[in-house]
Amino acid sequence: MLLTEDVPPALRAPDPAFRRDIVEGLSREPKATPPIWFYDRRGSELFEAITDLPEYYPTRTETALLERHGADFAAAVGAGRAVVEFGAGSSRKTPHLLRAIDPAAYVPIDISGDFLHASSAELASAFPGLPILPVVGDFNGELALPAAIDGLPRLGFFPGSTIGNMEPDAAVDLLRAMRRLLGGDAMLLIGMDRIKDRDRLVAAYDDAAGVTAAFNLNLIARINRELAGDLPLDGFVHRAIWNDDKARIEMHLEAVRPLHFHVAGQCFRMEQGETIHTESSHKYGARDERLLLRAGGWEPLREWSDAEGLFSLILAGA
Ligand code: AVI
Repeated sequence: MLLTEDVPPALRAPDPAFRRDIVEGLSREPKATPPIWFYDRRGSELFEAITDLPEYYPTRTETALLERHGADFAAAVGAGRAVVEFGAGSSRKTPHLLRAIDPAAYVPIDISGDFLHASSAELASAFPGLPILPVVGDFNGELALPAAIDGLPRLGFFPGSTIGNMEPDAAVDLLRAMRRLLGGDAMLLIGMDRIKDRDRLVAAYDDAAGVTAAFNLNLIARINRELAGDLPLDGFVHRAIWNDDKARIEMHLEAVRPLHFHVAGQCFRMEQGETIHTESSHKYGARDERLLLRAGGWEPLREWSDAEGLFSLILAGA
C-alpha cells in the first residue's frame, strides 16, 4: 500500500489545513499551534515510544484498569452494545474492553486511514465473530456511524485522556457531539488524567531519555519538510511547564536565540526565550471530571481509579 508519506515531499501538495493552522499559529501572540499536527508517521512512532516510558504513567495505568475491572464493566454496561471508539489509533487498549463486555459490533474512528485499517485487521483476527466497521474521519467534525449498527445501543470509548488535550469549552462541545452521535440510551467510558504532584507531571512530559523532547521538536522537522520551512532545529528547546491556574501541562518550543525563519513563503521572527505553545494536557480533580461530563450532557455512573489515584476511567450515561 502506498502511504502519503512514501511520496517524496517535493511531489506532495501541502495539506491546506496544516498550512493554515501553522501560519495562523505562528502569526499569533503568543504563538500557539494545535497538537493534532504532531502525528505524522514519525510523531506517531514517537508517541508510541512515550507510552512505554517509565515517567509516562497514563497509558500503563489506564491499561491496568481496563485489565483489572473487566467484570465490573460487563455488569455495568451489559452485552450487545456497539462499541464506538473515538481516535482509535493503534487500539492497544481495546481488546481488554471487547473481551470483557461481549459487544455486538466495534466501530473504531480515526483520522488516519492507514493506521485504522491495519489495527482493524489485527482486531478482526483476534475477534473473529465480531463485526468491525472502521470509520475514517475526524471525530471533531461531522461524522456518520455505519448503518449496520442502527438500532443497537452504543458504548462510546474515549481512552487515553485525549479529552485533556482540548480546552475545556472544546471538550464540552465534543462531549455534546458524542452524545448526539451515540443517541439517548448510550454510555461513555472515558479516561481522564488526575491532578497530582507537580514534579511527577512535569517528568511525564519531560522524560530523561528525551523522547518527549524529540516528539515536540518533530513538529519543526515536519513544518520544514511539508511547508517549505527553514526553522533551525538547533534554535529550539523543548519545555514542559505545569500551569497551576489552568491545571494543565503545557508543552512549548522555546527559541534559544533570536530567530528569523520562513514558512510557506511567509517570514516570522522570535525573540530569545519566546515560545511556540504546542500542546496543553489538562488534568482533572475528581469533581472537575464529573462537572465536565455533566456540562457535556453525560451523567457519571461509575469510576475506577488506581491505588495512587493517578488516572480515572469513568462510565457515564447519556
Ligand atoms: C495524546 N495525549 C493524551 C497525550 C497527553 O498526555 O497529553 C499526548 C502527549 N504529549 C506529550 N506526551 C504525551
